[in-house]
Amino acid sequence: GQVGKDGYRHYMEKELHEHPVAIGQTLQRITDPAAKTIALPELPFNPADVPRVTITACGSAFYAGMVGRYWLESLARMPVEIDVASEMRYREAPQPNKGVALLISQSGETADTLGVLRSLKKEGQSIVSVLNVEHSTMGRESDVVLGMVAGPEISVASTKAFTAQLSVLAALSIEFARARGTIDQAQEEKLTASLLDLPSKAAEVFTRVEDIQAMARVVAEARDVLYLGRGICTPIAYEGALKLKEISYIHAEAYAAGELKHGPISLIDRTVPVVAIAPSTILFEKTLSNLQEAKARGGRILAFTDAEGAKKLKGVAEVIVTLPDVDAFVAPILYAIPVQILAYEVALLKGTDVDQPRNLAKSVTVE
Ligand code: G6P
Repeated sequence: GQVGKDGYRHYMEKELHEHPVAIGQTLQRITDPAAKTIALPELPFNPADVPRVTITACGSAFYAGMVGRYWLESLARMPVEIDVASEMRYREAPQPNKGVALLISQSGETADTLGVLRSLKKEGQSIVSVLNVEHSTMGRESDVVLGMVAGPEISVASTKAFTAQLSVLAALSIEFARARGTIDQAQEEKLTASLLDLPSKAAEVFTRVEDIQAMARVVAEARDVLYLGRGICTPIAYEGALKLKEISYIHAEAYAAGELKHGPISLIDRTVPVVAIAPSTILFEKTLSNLQEAKARGGRILAFTDAEGAKKLKGVAEVIVTLPDVDAFVAPILYAIPVQILAYEVALLKGTDVDQPRNLAKSVTVE
């Protein structure tokens, strides 16, 4: 049936507020909360025998896949190949015997992602799809469907489906790690508990909207914006830049913070704000020094961090959004939310058509 806006100004605003529910419902399906363990549908292969996972997607789903790569590599010690679907489709990359192809798509209908699904199936890969619309073409053609339970997403720019995708990928990574013996039971419980904590932490993000609005006022004045992340939060910088471009039409680029000195630092001056995705995890000090370099060149630093990071960013960042403390493992899921809210708030200031940005389609079913 018809999905309404429930009193929100835009579908995007409504769907942003549905992040906690989308994450919670998704986790309900794939975890055993009492045991703090993962409970995925049965897989038709043993993760211990899988030589490689090949991740493919488009748009925001691709950035979710990039986070998935970090998790699969670091937790499950799993070799991972990843690319956007339009490239993967024509790369003629060799596929390993017993390999798994992991496709990620909100709609399950994106032409390029479906094209990769079909060609990797022909190459003998097991097909695992992470989908919001399970009764979709990709759903029908997959060996295993891992459903997100995000509910219908109407806004062209993806929001809650992104954190739901990440929740599924996190659970899959824990499950692979358990099966491959790279984590023990205590670690599985700790990681699962950090996931199960997310809905309440995600809800807390909405108490920071005023700070995000202060950040939005700086971003809305800019013609170009640079987003920086590091490690597992680099894909969240990409997601932030994509969302800003899509709905506010401000040019944004994302970089792994360590690459700043290899090019983009030459762009920085007062007119190019730098948005940092910087939870105080192991790479924080390195990000901090990258930001100090940017500030020394006149850059205006806007930072998403936690209480610990906020102390160190004082005097460096002009606006700081202090987010709830979370385990580093789930930080990309939590940080995606304020980054998307920032794009929304900027679009409001710019007066653009938030739900139907020009030239974009919700689901791209042609190549
Ligand atoms: C379009 C949408 C994006 C989405 C991408 C992939 O470009 O505007 O928000 O991330 O398609 O869509 P999918 O349905 O495959 O996740």
